[in-house]
Amino acid sequence: MRHYSRVIGTGGYLPTTICTNDDISQRVETSDSWIFERTGIKSRRIAGGDESAASMAEIAATQAMDAAEILADELDLIIVATGTPDRVYPSTACLLQQRLGAKNCVAFDIQAACSGSIFALSIADQYIKSGAAKKVLVVGSEVCSRLVDWTDRETCILFGDGAGAIVLEVAEQAGILSTHIHSDGGCEDLLYCPNPQAATAANKDELGFIKMRGNEVFKVAVNTLGRIVDETLAANEMDKSDIDWLVPHQANIRIIAATAKKLRMSMDQVVVTLENQGNTSSASILLAFNEAVRDGRIQRGQVVLLEAFGAGFTWGSALIRY
Ligand SMILES: CC(C)(COP(=O)(O)OP(=O)(O)OC[C@H]1O[C@@H](n2cnc3c(N)ncnc32)[C@H](O)[C@@H]1OP(=O)(O)O)[C@@H](O)C(=O)NCCC(=O)NCCS
Repeated sequence: MRHYSRVIGTGGYLPTTICTNDDISQRVETSDSWIFERTGIKSRRIAGGDESAASMAEIAATQAMDAAEILADELDLIIVATGTPDRVYPSTACLLQQRLGAKNCVAFDIQAACSGSIFALSIADQYIKSGAAKKVLVVGSEVCSRLVDWTDRETCILFGDGAGAIVLEVAEQAGILSTHIHSDGGCEDLLYCPNPQAATAANKDELGFIKMRGNEVFKVAVNTLGRIVDETLAANEMDKSDIDWLVPHQANIRIIAATAKKLRMSMDQVVVTLENQGNTSSASILLAFNEAVRDGRIQRGQVVLLEAFGAGFTWGSALIRY
């Protein structure tokens, strides 16, 4: 018998503090209209001083497990995607395992920047398909606000904090129809975040803030996401019209609109959370998926395309029959 992964629960968490474009324009030379027109963002959430990737992950994960009606000790595997781990080690997944009291599972983090949740879903799917795990918790959790240089107007306008979660279970029917993940380490300079503690003598003076050549990243993202759509449809012998929902990584409304256009989809079929969340990196797709499941837009049996692009570069997709 073949094994597939099925989504049995979703969850999400957003910190309560709202940072509007007007708030940012008090700090750097920008405006609400510039930010909204170029990005589609109006506000983003900022984690409180006592919040972290692990604490936000716990809330999102608990919500997803409640929806899935499973207990923590039923989990076989926890994967957390984050670029803002609480500690270098233990992994945020191990910290989450302890918080949840998930005694019977293995837990590890993956780092694929904004593509993290797609990479984590892909790994989870391989574990379930191979029979190595039956119930898997995937979480994306990020405190991007702590990696942002709040004096850099080209990056501080983009990012926000939050956590999204999904529980997968082994099933006889898909579920996840396919996942596709890719990396190209050749574009490091276009988007990176230094780690001062592990710096070499040559880059020891770099601060630990996101550095980005936004315009160039934008162009690569649009082209790459166009290609991943084609790859995903071809692998499943599906047509554009077979996709009910697009749940894209929430980086920029113009990147999202380009992918929707490629799919000949109306924006009504695209889940957009960007306006009030900004780019929450590896949390964004799971937050958007959770929102559209909970408000009833995504219905059982519908086909949902998740896609992401991030530093690395990394990019990928997951096609799900929900
Ligand atoms: C960052 C981004 C919004 C900038 O928009 P853009 O249309 O590409 O703008 P440019 O970088 O070409 O800059 C155009 C001008 O606006 C200025 N500008 C940049 N940020 C600004 C801001 N926040 N407010 C006002 N002006 C700004 C620039 O300095 C530049 O001025 P100049 O023409 O005098 O040199 C856009 O490139 C983007 O979203 N890129 C993708 C980033 C991304 O998604 N990264 C994460 C990937 S997961």
